[in-house]
Amino acid sequence: MVKIGYIVGSLAQNSINRKLAQVIVDQAPQQAELVEINITELPLYDRHMDADFPQVLREFKEQVAAVDGLLIVSPEHNQSFPAPVKNAIDVLSRPPKEGQLAGLKLGIAGASPGRFGTINGQAQMRQFLPPQGVKLMGSPVLAVQVTGETFHEDGTADEQTTARARKYIDAFTEFVSAR
Ligand SMILES: Cc1cc2nc3c(=O)[nH]c(=O)nc-3n(C[C@H](O)[C@H](O)[C@H](O)COP(=O)(O)O)c2cc1C
Repeated sequence: MVKIGYIVGSLAQNSINRKLAQVIVDQAPQQAELVEINITELPLYDRHMDADFPQVLREFKEQVAAVDGLLIVSPEHNQSFPAPVKNAIDVLSRPPKEGQLAGLKLGIAGASPGRFGTINGQAQMRQFLPPQGVKLMGSPVLAVQVTGETFHEDGTADEQTTARARKYIDAFTEFVSAR
């Protein structure tokens, strides 16, 4: 069994990225257990916290330490990834000597109504995370352009999005399982 934690990068209640995350969860292979690691309650990190790291941030780090791989399903804000995602990553990198980015197996996916479907925000994460030691899955890319037909009331998605989500989570499960 492979344990995969996933973060939804949107704080919005009706988030399309939460919908995409649910489709990914539903398409996950049997050997993968997916658990949400919620970032909505994380305070903004500042370096004074290092001396006495807040419990809520420690608990978040423990949740990430308990999974074999982490998946970020995030919107794009102003052609970058949103602040709560950067905050969560910064928290994972601290306090000194307790950083968790080195060796972290990571996948990135996202949904947007825009025609590039979060590809710019994803590209920025692909730029700064590997130098921190993150083991980032390179392909496939899951950047979904959402229309009114993409997600259905019952939580399912159209055929193409469902197939892409399945291919993505199959590959990520294999990526996380590999030694
Ligand atoms: C501050 C802000 C900036 C945005 N910038 C982009 C952008 O650069 N590219 C894009 O495709 N969509 C952009 N959008 C539109 C989002 O993709 C859209 O709101 C989407 O629903 C966000 O995902 P969510 O529903 O999971 O929160 C932006 C939205 C906001 C609120």
